[in-house]
Amino acid sequence: METTKKVFWVNGSPSGNASNSRKLASSFLEGYCEACDAAVTEFVCADHNIAPCTGCRFCWRNSEGRCAQEDDMDQFIASYLSADVLVWSFPVYMYSVPAITKSVMERLLPCLFAQLEVIDEQKTVHKKRWIRKAREVYVLATAGFFNTASNIESVEKLFSLLYPEGITMICCPEGDLLTNSFLRFYVESYLSNVRSAGKELASQGSIIEATGQRLLRPILPLEKYLLFTNLQGIYRLKDESNEAWERRKLQSFMRCLSLTYRPELLSVDRAVLAFDITDKNYQCQLVLSKAGAEFLEDENPQYDLLVRAPCSFFTSVRIKSIEQKADLDWLIQMANRCAFRKRPKQLNF
Ligand SMILES: Cc1cc2nc3c(=O)[nH]c(=O)nc-3n(C[C@H](O)[C@H](O)[C@H](O)COP(=O)(O)O)c2cc1C
Repeated sequence: METTKKVFWVNGSPSGNASNSRKLASSFLEGYCEACDAAVTEFVCADHNIAPCTGCRFCWRNSEGRCAQEDDMDQFIASYLSADVLVWSFPVYMYSVPAITKSVMERLLPCLFAQLEVIDEQKTVHKKRWIRKAREVYVLATAGFFNTASNIESVEKLFSLLYPEGITMICCPEGDLLTNSFLRFYVESYLSNVRSAGKELASQGSIIEATGQRLLRPILPLEKYLLFTNLQGIYRLKDESNEAWERRKLQSFMRCLSLTYRPELLSVDRAVLAFDITDKNYQCQLVLSKAGAEFLEDENPQYDLLVRAPCSFFTSVRIKSIEQKADLDWLIQMANRCAFRKRPKQLNF
């Protein structure tokens, strides 16, 4: 009879529940749990009190391996040792793991004795006080650079040293796109491959080659990724007026929106989707064609569809967490219909 696998998931992102790496790991585990009977326990490091190791070595000087610090690490160690499957998720920080993830790793010291033993010729390791049950270890990381090469090597190395019996690692280098509602369509296709990977690992112990190849495909191509990331990274200039800053945020938002356009939604050769942000006195247009979306700021444009709405209709315009409320795909399909019928239309919200 198949027994339920205990999965212990260490969410090591300082952003905790709202993190990109959590999104990656939860898709992976969705797939994993589809293929086998598993019970997942998530440990959100950011929600716990776990200090770094102080190096006092108290745990090595008492027979129970007790740590001198009294915090949530006891709870962690108990779940860590008894799990059948370990999942680590975290963002890449400075080519490594974030400090809170590293703290948890350091605090696993009580699992070892001070004594060393020799394995593989000259290699020494600490003798184990407690043996971890899990033989399956999955590492799910997100990063911000477009590339994994010259970026995540030290993370890979770190985990392969911690788990010499082997790990499976999935890294999404365009991690910041995962939680961006603008890019639902693109992200969903990537995450469905992550789910497949989880399912394949649970059912057959490895990721099939085709899935592995698909996971290497970028969510957005480099050029678009750079534009998107850099537009989201704008900041208020010294001495910039409120009005100018608001305008730049709107421009950035609308340009980001134009980058999410998918030409396959258009059946006509050209359609103009115009926006009038009523409470900000701001007008702009997306000229849609098979080649892409051109962004314009014309005050009296020819349009197929004009959307007049307050800023809140589109976004909270908090530049750190741009959140799309309007459904661009729906507006594009509407503009397409208006262009096809040659009947311009105005929508007021
Ligand atoms: C302090 C800091 C350091 C970072 N260092 C790197 C880095 O070395 N390489 C990289 O690709 N991304 C780096 N990033 C970007 C994060 O890895 C990326 O935003 C990630 O998706 C965040 O994931 P999270 O939401 O799960 O925390 C860094 C971000 C921060 C805040």
